[in-house]
Amino acid sequence: MKGLSAKTALISGASRGIGRQTAIRLSEYGCSVILHYSRSAEKAEETARIAKKNGAEAFTIQGDLNDPKTPERIASEISNLGIKLRFIVNNAGMYDGSSFHDTTDEKWLEAMRVDLISPSNILRLLAPEIRKAGGGAIVNVSSILGHRPDTYGYPYQAAKAALIHITRGLAIELAPDIRVNAVSPGFIMTDMNRDGWNDSEFKSQVESLTPLKRWGKPEDISEVICFLLSDLSSFITGQNICVDGGKSL
Ligand SMILES: NC(=O)c1ccc[n+]([C@@H]2O[C@H](COP(=O)([O-])OP(=O)(O)OC[C@H]3O[C@@H](n4cnc5c(N)ncnc54)[C@H](OP(=O)(O)O)[C@@H]3O)[C@@H](O)[C@H]2O)c1
Repeated sequence: MKGLSAKTALISGASRGIGRQTAIRLSEYGCSVILHYSRSAEKAEETARIAKKNGAEAFTIQGDLNDPKTPERIASEISNLGIKLRFIVNNAGMYDGSSFHDTTDEKWLEAMRVDLISPSNILRLLAPEIRKAGGGAIVNVSSILGHRPDTYGYPYQAAKAALIHITRGLAIELAPDIRVNAVSPGFIMTDMNRDGWNDSEFKSQVESLTPLKRWGKPEDISEVICFLLSDLSSFITGQNICVDGGKSL
């Protein structure tokens, strides 16, 4: 894909699911990858091995995004690598599907830190590096739950809705050097909702409510992320693309 090769991308949550597939796809396009992970060190190293096999440089960086100090540590480790960063994919995320009545302050704070504040701080600290390197692009991974409401997981919904909103503001603020877009996945078969697609009744219910009649795969999302980072989307900024088989309709 045009404009990805010989550049470097930071992908948060690259140990599993959508982030892992995005890192692998970017490496296939000739882009070097900095793979952030939190608990799945072995899986992150395995993603790095695949990226290297594809001929890309690959580095791993650990950090719990629920810890407010993590974004600064990630930024300083990247600066120590001496690499010119051109792309960021803010993909790491956690979902807690508690009902409204079971939503404690701690649950609100964790969702806000992991799904909104840390991704936003990563951009605040690293967007100047992208600018110094000659410009680039950012993709924030939100959710269709940030686009339309549901009756569970309110902190997650609020954080993801805010992520779409700041994507628009940052697209104005960081232009013209850096484009900023969001992708909102629908139901994708990853660990995040493994319980859902392992439950045959729920799985069929989602399929029947989805116009394209299937669950998404990590590849469905990673291709759109690569497109939004590449020069093929050079006139697109501040947009949120729902990649959900039409579910949000
Ligand atoms: N799957 C879906 O249906 C779906 C739908 C809508 C939106 N999304 C969004 O898509 C993104 C990727 O989700 P996925 O489905 O690929 O999920 P996943 O398979 O569960 O992977 C989540 C990734 O995020 C990282 N992560 C989780 N909590 C973290 C924390 N506290 N600090 C740092 N990293 C953390 C994990 O790292 P470790 O394993 O190393 O801890 C892992 O790499 C998320 O932002 C999610 O909200 C997914």
